[in-house]
Amino acid sequence: MQNFLTVKDFQPQQLMDIIKLAVDSKQNPAKYSQALAGKSVATIYEKPSLRTRVSFDVGIAKLGGHAIYLDQQNGALGKRESVKDFAKNLSCWVDAIVARVFDHNTLLELAEFGSVPVVNSLCNLYHPCQAMADYQALYEARGNSLTGASIAYIGDGNNVTHSLMLAGAILGVDVRVITPLGYSPDAHITEQAKVLAKQYGGKITLSDNVDDAIGVEAVYNDTWVSMGDSKSLDDIKRIFAPYRTDAALMDKLGAKYFMHCQPVYRGVEATDEVVDSESSLLMQQAENRMHAQNAVLMSLLCK
Ligand code: CP
Ligand code: NVA
Repeated sequence: MQNFLTVKDFQPQQLMDIIKLAVDSKQNPAKYSQALAGKSVATIYEKPSLRTRVSFDVGIAKLGGHAIYLDQQNGALGKRESVKDFAKNLSCWVDAIVARVFDHNTLLELAEFGSVPVVNSLCNLYHPCQAMADYQALYEARGNSLTGASIAYIGDGNNVTHSLMLAGAILGVDVRVITPLGYSPDAHITEQAKVLAKQYGGKITLSDNVDDAIGVEAVYNDTWVSMGDSKSLDDIKRIFAPYRTDAALMDKLGAKYFMHCQPVYRGVEATDEVVDSESSLLMQQAENRMHAQNAVLMSLLCK
């Protein structure tokens, strides 16, 4: 592993190894308390964050490493100085770069010109750390197995959808993506996910009808308006209303789990009764952000 920019670069065994390492370090923290001793990680944020910022910071400390938070004071990377120089300078001091950016190309540039591993902590196209935490949560909820798992992503086709599809395809999961017409995930990334699913035993289907999620184990939501989107919320609320997850929809689908990457807009994409229900895996997903990311960092830095 050189970088962690998108899950599509990995084989099923590599993703499963990350999930298993995440589970082990969650259960046996003392065993890993010095895994990143003496190592420093720069964490860059062009966009706001709660979960990602705190889980990387605390997670790196729990591995004996040091996280440096670089906020949005300079706006997008490349404004004050080029991304190339940013990457080359950071590589003089730190052992890895974690970056949340507007444009995936910024991550590619950081990886090209830096000499240390780069981790994608969300960009316009992907949210791979989220997908690893999500599949870890599903794996644990299902008694440490993803065999036969199925998940329906209902909402706006976005970065979270892309990583969920790609990781699901590689891990052999049945992933159904239900979006209003015109809000499907990126066609090129969907095609890549379908090719990976064929290769590795997953299944990717797209639909605009929530009934196509009947029989699924887990329903997954994200915000209808992502950071950086300029869509009008009033239009979106009208178009997406049939795609809101409430208790009646969960019952109709027969879904056992409700998942959401958060932040959740309560009463918009999902109702309180679902978010706060027994089926909700939201806090397991949030907790696992730290464990899955720690597993990614150890895979990159402890060789
Ligand atoms: N799920 C997630 O990435 O949350 P933050 O935007 O708060 O980091
Ligand atoms: N799709 C959302 C995810 C937030 C964690 C966004 O990009 O804003």
